[in-house]
Amino acid sequence: MQTVLVLSGPNLSRLGSREPDVYGGATLADIAAQCAAVGRELGLKVDFRQTDDEAELVGWVHEAVDGRLPIVLNPAAFTHYSYALRDALAMRTAPLIEVHLSNPATREAFRHNSVVAGVATGTVAGFGALSYQLALRAVAALCLPTPGSPTPGSPTPGSPTPGSPTQGPQAPAGAERS
Ligand code: DQA
Repeated sequence: MQTVLVLSGPNLSRLGSREPDVYGGATLADIAAQCAAVGRELGLKVDFRQTDDEAELVGWVHEAVDGRLPIVLNPAAFTHYSYALRDALAMRTAPLIEVHLSNPATREAFRHNSVVAGVATGTVAGFGALSYQLALRAVAALCLPTPGSPTPGSPTPGSPTPGSPTQGPQAPAGAERS
């Protein structure tokens, strides 16, 4: 079964009591349970982790890179300034979906820039806990075979694989990914 790392950054362990008007009332344990249920439905093995530690998060990204595992990531405040995290994610070998509970574009100016977005396959933001579930559905669409379709990783010529860091409508090496 395809494993997906679902990673959450600093202060997200406080969900439930942390600014519920912004982030909603669900705890991180609630979100983990929702992700596990959606994973079962989709046929994904969800490995759900949270840390406040940038080095630990970078280590988990290295693990995903080496294992060719897709990542669903809420980088929390690291979104806005962690070049170490971005550099690790730039090595990705499978789809990366950036998620946010809130919609940072509608909030303070310092939240408007994501240093992660430029190396992500895509971003889901503003749907509360549902953002994680939508991101898992994106991973399933990108990584799991659909009946009657070619196996991901074996694209037919002229049919680029969306989400692949090396194939599809990507910018040249060294440039921002769109
Ligand atoms: C967040 C948005 C970030 O700006 C913030 O620092 C977080 C949570 C979100 O999920 O909405 O910690 O990533």
